[in-house]
Amino acid sequence: MAIPQSIRNVVVFAAGGGLGRAFVEALQREGFNVSAVTRPSNSVSYGPGVTMHRSEYDDFDTLVAIFRGQDAVVSTTGTFAAKYQLTAIDAAAAAGVRRFLPSEYGGNTSLVGVTSYPPFAAEKKAIVEHLRTKESQGLTWTSLCVGIFFSWVLEEGKGTLGWDIDKGDVTIYDSGNQEFDTSTVDQVARATIAILRNLEETENTYVFINSFVATQNQTLSALERIQGKPYKVSHDFWSAARSRGLAALERGEIEAGYHDLVTGTIYDPGHFALFKAEEVGKWKKILRLNEKEDLDGVVTDVLRKKYLI
Ligand SMILES: NC(=O)c1ccc[n+]([C@@H]2O[C@H](COP(=O)([O-])OP(=O)(O)OC[C@H]3O[C@@H](n4cnc5c(N)ncnc54)[C@H](OP(=O)(O)O)[C@@H]3O)[C@@H](O)[C@H]2O)c1
Repeated sequence: MAIPQSIRNVVVFAAGGGLGRAFVEALQREGFNVSAVTRPSNSVSYGPGVTMHRSEYDDFDTLVAIFRGQDAVVSTTGTFAAKYQLTAIDAAAAAGVRRFLPSEYGGNTSLVGVTSYPPFAAEKKAIVEHLRTKESQGLTWTSLCVGIFFSWVLEEGKGTLGWDIDKGDVTIYDSGNQEFDTSTVDQVARATIAILRNLEETENTYVFINSFVATQNQTLSALERIQGKPYKVSHDFWSAARSRGLAALERGEIEAGYHDLVTGTIYDPGHFALFKAEEVGKWKKILRLNEKEDLDGVVTDVLRKKYLI
């Protein structure tokens, strides 16, 4: 089936979370006709111009009705909620949607060994496998891998990836020299919009982008230099963080395990969060992502936002 070259109608699925909000706003700014779906239990609403829908995520018929007439579904289900996209994918295919962007937005879940990673990575990979089964129905997909939302992680201050900048504390994992790709949420939104405008190049493929590559030690030295004060430094190991996270998950304590699991996955030297530079370069060229962003600039923005400088 021929793909329309211009996408006008976009629905953000599971739009009530942090990334969903950022996408709704960015898509609206860029002039797309934007709809948003949340579960009935989420009372979030967007301003005029965004059509709101409520549906349970296993309600196939309601989702088909919502997706009919839509060109693309951009999904932003939470890290541990990937499976809630399965019915939405079936519904998108049935409704004749052209492009589905699954809720990826992190490390490289296409890695062969990812099934041995903490479950959220394998669950995201399984969603792409499910999308592949819909290609024959005309539903195309693009899986956008962006590394770490660096500024979110620094701002959050819950210890994810070792940072608590409010207290001036950091836990350095292993040597602190493990490189990782990182993207600002603005860059993730720009890439998402560029995918919707470059349908042929991005059809049925993983796309890798970043804002820049960093290490913990580089970040620590940027923070200390810009704030003009030393941080209190402790040390840990990515493998220990992952074990603690998996144990918490076994006990059903998803919230408690989240930070250790993410930390133990990102700093794993297995390249989950460090993409091939030539792949990133290729995609940034195709998507014309020319915005200049660097470590010092992002660190300064975060510190200003938190009134720490
Ligand atoms: N790379 C990074 O550093 C980074 C950082 C943060 C997030 N991410 C990724 O970005 C994506 C979105 O993350 P987010 O933080 O914006 O997500 P979130 O706020 O945790 O959740 C987004 C939405 O997912 C739905 N959801 C969550 N738990 C659910 C459950 N148990 N059952 C059914 N629906 C559920 C909810 O939909 P409703 O709207 O219906 O309530 C929620 O609003 C994820 O893929 C995440 O892994 C990456």
